[in-house]
Amino acid sequence: MEKTILITGGAGFIGSHLVRRMINNYPNYHIVNLDKLTYAGNLNNLKDVEDKLNYTFIKADIVDANALSEIFTTYDFDGVIHLAAESHVDRSITNPNEFIMTNVIGTLNLLNECKNNWQDKKDRIFYHVSTDEVYGSLGDVGMFTEETSYDPRSPYSASKASSDHIVRAYYHTFDLPIKISNCSNNYGSYQFPEKLLPLMINNIKNGKDLPVYGKGENIRDWLWVKDHAAAIDLIYHKGAIGETYNIGGHNEWTNIDLIHSLCDIMDKKLGNNEGTSKKLIKFVKDRAGHDLRYAIDASKLEVDLGWVPSIQFKEGLEKTVDWYLENTEWLDSVTSGDYANYYKKQYN
Ligand code: NAD
Ligand code: TYD
Repeated sequence: MEKTILITGGAGFIGSHLVRRMINNYPNYHIVNLDKLTYAGNLNNLKDVEDKLNYTFIKADIVDANALSEIFTTYDFDGVIHLAAESHVDRSITNPNEFIMTNVIGTLNLLNECKNNWQDKKDRIFYHVSTDEVYGSLGDVGMFTEETSYDPRSPYSASKASSDHIVRAYYHTFDLPIKISNCSNNYGSYQFPEKLLPLMINNIKNGKDLPVYGKGENIRDWLWVKDHAAAIDLIYHKGAIGETYNIGGHNEWTNIDLIHSLCDIMDKKLGNNEGTSKKLIKFVKDRAGHDLRYAIDASKLEVDLGWVPSIQFKEGLEKTVDWYLENTEWLDSVTSGDYANYYKKQYN
């Protein structure tokens, strides 16, 4: 194999799309997927590639420094693409400690392994995958650029901001060759149905309430997950060391407009009368510290590396709905067991 690349969090939503892409596009790379398999990690996300010869899965916790040390002794990684994280804002409000452990201490442990194992080795890359939420909340106008000051407001975004800072500190202090990207909200297949779109799709399918936080006026900037994976691949190979790239598709929606569109699509696909799904909308108590608006200026990535999203939102949303409706086994399996308890606690 030409290169061995460690991808952390590869059994999660974005990670599984990236692992699949890297295995298929680079048969000369050995892709090692390290994942703790939390509630959000699921090896069924990778069923179609699990037998590929250039793929290895390791179950491990990035908070466990000794386990990481052993793994870095076994493998000589040419690069690390780090996605493992606790990723849901609502869970960070009820259980912030776990977010600090995984997102901050886990990232620090990985950085230390790279620093210790990569001395005198050339052309290594530590690529940290982060979020636009580190920049805080926008008003009605403006966009996040790579120069926007950090202003995280949830325990999730504060933990990601903290890890971004530590990654940059290792670049400046120890010359560790790093890259960072900050992406807007992703949507697509294999997303755990705690996040807005798969949760709403699952609830519409089951005739359950659609919980809209506050008045549904908050704005998110949506990007198809496969376009995020393509951007990560591009930045990993062509991005400059020490640089940050924002990733986003210029695709802002208020939550309520998005949910209305989704309801219309679902009614058509399910053969319902027009307006059926909208009747399930229920305005509920707002999320604590709910960021009003995110919007990404991705022009650096577009101009420097020539990245453009491959798909229009309408098409991406339809494809996404089709995937969840076709993959009922996946949806039913991830919404069995603990999910019902989580859901009851969260919304009832
Ligand atoms: P996800 O929750 O679907 O997946 C996270 C994965 O990390 C899971 O497979 C989980 O098992 C694993 N994991 C969690 N804790 C771990 C630990 N201690 N050790 C090893 N593995 C662990 O998350 P996602 O939505 O795929 O996000 C992936 C990354 O992308 C995260 O770093 C997130 O901050 C970032 N991001 C997400 C979005 C989005 O819209 N989902 C947008 C921008 C950036
Ligand atoms: P989410 O998917 O949790 O992503 P993030 O908080 O990281 O942006 O939520 C997207 C938006 O949808 C956010 O403004 C919160 C809102 N939301 C609801 O209104 N109802 C819900 O049940 C969920 C999960 C989210």
